[in-house]
Amino acid sequence: MPGPVIIAVDGPAAAGKGTLARRLATALGLPYLDTGLLYRAVGRRVLDAGADPRDAAQAEAAARSLAPGDLDRGDLRGPMADMAASAVAAIPAVRAALLDFQRVFGRDHGAVLDGRDIGTVVFPDAPVKLFVTASVEERARRRFVELRGRGVAADPAQVEAEIRDRDAQDANRPVAPLKPAADALLLDTTALDADAAFAAAMVMVEGRLEKGGEGLCSSP
Ligand code: CDP
Ligand code: CDP
Repeated sequence: MPGPVIIAVDGPAAAGKGTLARRLATALGLPYLDTGLLYRAVGRRVLDAGADPRDAAQAEAAARSLAPGDLDRGDLRGPMADMAASAVAAIPAVRAALLDFQRVFGRDHGAVLDGRDIGTVVFPDAPVKLFVTASVEERARRRFVELRGRGVAADPAQVEAEIRDRDAQDANRPVAPLKPAADALLLDTTALDADAAFAAAMVMVEGRLEKGGEGLCSSP
């Protein structure tokens, strides 16, 4: 009997991971987890305590006491929250504290998870790993349009600079850096809208699932 199907969707900021992962989950009837929200919620708790998100002890305590309600807060996005998430995400004890929750989420029924290290660390045996990218200019444009849609005034150059900084921080950290797994399928969405990206991803997913056949269980 094939085990639960795990689909890992990793990539840099504003590549369209969440939009794609959510649509894949709906199409395949799988639960969906936005793992970035976990790091965002930890970063927010540290900021709320008036502490520095780079403070390992504070951040670990926040990660260990994370409650489901913390993920539903409306203030987890925006430049401060983005950088706080990336800062706490570089702390090994924070990542360790969040690992079990992510693995348990996908263990019984499978799942689509999006983040930075799903295919490299959280579910290294996932049968389907997508690494979603787009040019930094296009990603900044998308994030800018998104912010404008939420009524947030932003400077396009500033949005691009923040995305570059965060990607560099995520890619250069020693623990679980942002990088494609060796067996990830690359999906460059620079010239694709969300519908075209979804269609391309479905072809990749179906190809991998057919090839994988048996033994889809990917608990590490
Ligand atoms: O999760 P991540 O930060 O990678 O990106 P997202 O929040 O899913 O997507 C950022 C924005 O890009 C959303 O407003 C999408 O509608 C848009 N978009 C996309 O997701 N995929 C494309 N191929 C093109 C645009
Ligand atoms: O939506 P966007 O791509 O801008 O960010 P996100 O996916 O919500 O992630 C926010 C931050 O959390 C990232 O910049 C990473 O530093 C961190 N993160 C991580 O380290 N590992 C994950 N699996 C997910 C997010």
